[in-house]
Parts: sequence; structure tokens; C-alpha cells
Amino acid sequence: MQITSFKQYEEDFKKSVENPEQFWGEVAQNFQWRKPWYKVLSWDFKEPNIKWFEGAKLNITENCLDRHLEKNGDKPAIIWEPNSHEEESVTLTYKMLHERVCRFANVLKRNGAKKGDRICIYMPMVPELAIAVLACARIGAVHSVIFGGFSAKSIADRINDSQCKLVITADGAYRGSKQIPLKDVIDDALIGCPTVEKCIVLTHVRTPVSMLKGRDVWWEDEVKHVNDICEAEEMDAEDMLFILYTSGSTGKPKGVVHTCGGYMVYAGYTFTNVFNYQPGEVYFCTADIGWITGHSYIVYGPLSQGATSVLFEGIPTYPTPSRFWDIIEKHKINTLYTAPTAIRSLMSYGEGPLEGKDLSSIRVLGSVGEPINEEAWHWFDEKIGHGKAPIVDTWWQTETGGIMISPIATVTPTKPSFATLPLPGIQPILVDENGKEILGNDVMGNLCIKFPWPGMLRTTYGDHERCKQTYFSTYPDLYFTGDGCLRDQDGYYRITGRVDDVLNVSGHRIGTAEVENAINMHAGVVESAVVGYPHDVKGQGIYAFVINPEMHGEAELTKKDILQTVTRVIGAIAKPDKILFVSGLPKTRSGKIMRRILRKIAEGDTANLGDTSTLLDPNVVEEIIEAAKALK
Ligand code: WT7
Repeated sequence: MQITSFKQYEEDFKKSVENPEQFWGEVAQNFQWRKPWYKVLSWDFKEPNIKWFEGAKLNITENCLDRHLEKNGDKPAIIWEPNSHEEESVTLTYKMLHERVCRFANVLKRNGAKKGDRICIYMPMVPELAIAVLACARIGAVHSVIFGGFSAKSIADRINDSQCKLVITADGAYRGSKQIPLKDVIDDALIGCPTVEKCIVLTHVRTPVSMLKGRDVWWEDEVKHVNDICEAEEMDAEDMLFILYTSGSTGKPKGVVHTCGGYMVYAGYTFTNVFNYQPGEVYFCTADIGWITGHSYIVYGPLSQGATSVLFEGIPTYPTPSRFWDIIEKHKINTLYTAPTAIRSLMSYGEGPLEGKDLSSIRVLGSVGEPINEEAWHWFDEKIGHGKAPIVDTWWQTETGGIMISPIATVTPTKPSFATLPLPGIQPILVDENGKEILGNDVMGNLCIKFPWPGMLRTTYGDHERCKQTYFSTYPDLYFTGDGCLRDQDGYYRITGRVDDVLNVSGHRIGTAEVENAINMHAGVVESAVVGYPHDVKGQGIYAFVINPEMHGEAELTKKDILQTVTRVIGAIAKPDKILFVSGLPKTRSGKIMRRILRKIAEGDTANLGDTSTLLDPNVVEEIIEAAKALK
């Protein structure tokens, strides 16, 4: 199933459009099924109702573990690089990983977990996180991984939305020179989570934690009580595999649902092709498993292909900004898959951190999460790839399950800042505001997908109507991505960024409404409006306009109070970079905030505010412009 020439890409693409069922049926033959499907695809984008590989039975962990044991059991599956460079790295072979997953799967069963139960995972980037994820899949429980940067309230909302029965966490996490008290955060969350019966706690930093009798148990104790034999649960292709919460334009995050069969096929197929993975190579994706990139391209994609996947606990700048380059040299990394924000941050340290580092093992480079600017693209190409490693700029989303538009390494000619061409099976179209298809090249529009692919979301947990409204109603019969996009004269795609009220801050997806709700929870705040603005390292920064709150002391102190509230409500990742106190917001006569104007002000582009004739009170704008100039 690996594409080795551009001609083959074109042929496969053509086939995938003309006969999608045959195409994906053949791709799926490369996986292990307990029972074959009787129908490759049935679909309806109106409902939406999408089924891939209907009737087929499988367990994704048999594909990620068991099937490699005979020939590649002693091959490294996961190489763990700890936060501290002084600590030893850990290698888990496929045999070892299989054994630990089975053992922990038995721990889950022992603690009452059954097929279909939802399990929340809130852990640091340690091998046990991958083990916990796979153990859920082994017994058919649905994992909901929550990134370690979210607050207790965010966790509680997510746990309650999907009624999780179990939580898996650790005492704490290391993040560079900091320690994060994960179990404390979970304890706060669980005060408001009546469905949670058990909490399994891994010892990692060994900080003191409270352990509630009857609810909390230690990972290390539990594994002693079970053996390592656990037959995989037989799953229907359309049974739920996991839920992953993501932000949208409304305040409440959505639980994106992925199912077993289609997701597995799509993650595996895209992994092997986009990165042109060769047996024996070492692959390093720097994402966190708390995001979709980690699910698909640290865990399921690479492991389903028998690859060696590096799992890094720390951050790129600890102990020094040479850390990534040290890891590449140490583990002889062949593929580095990272985010533009990390590249820009490392670029800012100049070439010093690269001196004397041997990066000759690098063969393929990847970028994900946000548009990569040309400067960062060239730096990545020259300094890290030495002009010899193709860069795959991969566009996709939590909802798409896997990479959608991207070069295929060594196959597709690349172009700086372009995600290039759709992968086989993907049918993108650009539409105008009225949903009319924009044909031809050298055009811009809203990016939609007109035909299903196996990795697509099936629903949003507990609220199918919301899935329909968010993705399938803006433009009838199309999946709407929320992204703007241009198609150049060569038919190459370049993603220009979100066209809805979703921000991309350091590759993290944050809804403006979510941040506004958090700010508005602060005592004394009446109303606020949040927009994004261009930020050199983060891609986008968060700019909050807040109607003069009641002050307790200096304005600066009140700003800090507000940041504290946002950290409590969502997490530190959603903290505004700038807060501006204003006496009013620019509103239309019908009371709608004109965000377009605020965006311009945040960008510092006030010469051209566009049509302001519908404003209720134009004076407000003048005042905000003046105040914004004074803000650092
Ligand atoms: C949004 C999805 C998918 C993995 C991580 C993010 C933006 C993603 C690219 C890219 C330009 C990109 C889009 C998209 N995005 N990759 N290569 N070029 N923009 O997943 O949190 O679901 O965010 O990230 O705006 O809609 P996510």
C-alpha cells in the first residue's frame, strides 16, 4: 500500500475517486480482521450517517501489537525519552509493549471496566500513557484522553459529558524545570464527577498525593494482582474507539467520536505513505498524545505499521534549545514530525544550539497544526534537513482522524508553505459563501470535503445534532472544515487559516467564545470579546477586549486576576496574551459585536477598518484604537 512514485500517486488518486469502495477495500486488506466486511461504505452527509467496513470485526490492538510479535517481537515499538536528559531512555519492544498492555487491560477489567465504558486518561508523556490508551482499546473501552494542560473544570466538563466510569492519571508530570500536580487537579475535578468509580494513579514524580479509600488505587499495586494474558475484545468496525474533545466556535468543546475500523485503516495508510516509513527506521513525532496528532501519529498509525515511535516527555527548550537535536543524534531519528510553533521558537535561538549536532540520520521532515510560514519552512529545510529531506506539510484536523492534504515524502514535489495535494481518497473542494463550488486554479475559498474517508468523525458524543450543525449544514452535502484555502496555478493547496471563531495558538485549537466565557466568569467582568492576532512564535496570540471591570488595586493586578480565572476555568493554554480594558465594545444596532473591527485593531491595522456604518456608537472605536496604541 506504499506509494513510491508520483505516477502511482496519480493512478491511486484517480482510482480512489472513480471507485472508492474498491480502493479502500484493497487498502484495508493490509490490516488484520477477525471477520471481513460485507459492505465497504454506506454514507449520507445529510444526517450524517457514515459507515465503513460494515460487518467487519477486529481489534485495533491486534493490528498494533499481536500481529508484529512473530517476526518483529524484539523490534522497538516505543522509545521513551524522559523530560530529564540525565535520566535513561526506555525502549519497549513489541513483545514488551504487548505484555504490558495486556496486563494493564486486566487491571482495567479488575477495576470494573467493560466494553463500551468511557475512560478518561490524564497523564504525562510516559510509556504508560500509550499503554493506558492501548489497554482501553484492548478491552473495547472508549478512551477520552485529556491534555495535561487543562484545568480541573475542563476535565470535569469532559468527564461528565461522556460519563466516564474510570480515570487513569499520575501523581504528577515534569515539564521542563516545572512539576505539574496532575492528581491534585484530578481530585478537584472529581468533586463534581458522580459517574467516576475508580481512579488509577501511576507513580511518576512521587509527589505527595491524596488517595481516597475505595476510589483511588496505585497503578504499581494493581499490576501485581493480574497476569499478562488478555485476549482482545472483538469489536465491530463501527464500534467507538475513542472520544477526543476539541474546541469550536461555540463555548462548549465537542467530543469528536472515532470508530475502530475506518480510523485504523486511515491512520495506518496515511502514516506509511506520508512519511514514506521504511522498516527499521526511527520516527519521532513531538506532539502530545493529548491531541489527535499523538493519537494517530505516535500511537495508532506507527504501531499499526510496526514502526519505532519515539515518545518524548519534555519540551524543546529544556535543558537547552538543543534538546530536539540531541534526541535526533542520540536515537538516530529518521523522521521528525513537529509543529511550526516549535520550529519558530527554536529558530529564534540562532544556529548556536545546532553546532556540533549530528543530524545526518534525518530523511523526512513533517509539519502539522498550523500554517507554516516560508521563513520557518526554509529554516527547517536547510538547517535540519540540510536541503535533502522532503518536508511534508500535513493539513488535517481532530475531526478528520488523519492527514488529508499533504505531500507524500519522496513522491510529491513540495512547495514552501503549501500542503500541496490531497491524499488518495480525499476529495477537497473550495466553495464561496453561498456554497457554490469554485472551479479552476488560482482561486481561494472555504475548504470542504465532498466524499467520505475512513478516518472521518462519525458523531459528536451525546449530541449528533451538533455534529450535523457544525460540519454538515453550512454547505449542504459537504463536510465543512472551517478553514480558508487557496489553490494555486498548479492545483496545489495552501491552507490560509480558520474562517470561523477558532484560534490556533501554538498549534492549540482554542475557541474565542470559550475564552470569553472564562473571562466573563471573573467577578466584576461584565462583557468581553476575544480575537486572534498574528504572533511571531505562537502563530496567533489571544487578544481580549474587556469592558472595564471593577478594579481591586492596579489595573495590572486585575489583569493578572483575570488570567488566573482563565487558567482555572480552561487552563494556562487559553490565557490571553493581551488584555485591553475598554468602556464599550463596537456593536451593531442589533447588538452584535463587530469582531472584524476588533481583529483589525488587534493586528494594529486601523487605517482600513472597512464599513463602520452599521455601528451603534462609532466613538467606541476611536476610544479603543487610542487605548490599544498605549498597550504594550
Ligand atoms: C486545525 C485543526 C491535525 C493536527 C493538529 C491540529 C489547522 C492543521 C495545518 C497545516 C495549516 C493547519 C487548521 C485546522 N491546521 N494542520 N498543515 N497547515 N493549518 O488539529 O486541533 O483539530 O486543529 O489546525 O486550521 O482546521 P486540530
